[in-house]
Amino acid sequence: MNLDETQEQALIAAAFAAAANAYAPYSDYPVGAALLFDDGAVITGCNVENASYGLALCAETVAVGKAFAEGRRGGLVAVAVVGLKADSAPITPCGRCRQVLNEVAALGGTDPLVLCVARKGEGGDVRRVTLSALLPHAFGPANLGH
Ligand code: THU
Repeated sequence: MNLDETQEQALIAAAFAAAANAYAPYSDYPVGAALLFDDGAVITGCNVENASYGLALCAETVAVGKAFAEGRRGGLVAVAVVGLKADSAPITPCGRCRQVLNEVAALGGTDPLVLCVARKGEGGDVRRVTLSALLPHAFGPANLGH
């Protein structure tokens, strides 16, 4: 599904707002994610780091966890993710987050648009890509008969 300019900007703004709550004292790389569902709901997440560095939770994964916890099983139409490091290229979801996003997408049979946003890009520097392009030939629920 393509978003119009207003919907895109609203989703990106939600990701920026989520990034403001990031707990990223170790990487100093705050990330925010916003998931748009087919009923118009937006569920956000931020990265949550840990003194045991390897335990960091990514923003997209936190958002997907919140979505599942609120009972969602599909209906994911778009994702915005923003990394706040100055002067860096638009963030793209890490490999684990692609797989985590794929679970909720596959359950509803959608191929969400992923808006990858750089700090300087509020309304500007945005890379638009589908989840299936980020994660081709994905392993998912269907592989297990679900
Ligand atoms: N991070 C995310 O939140 N999402 C991604 O897709 C890539 C990386 C976070 C994890 C860690 O807190 C920080 O960015 C630096 O890797």
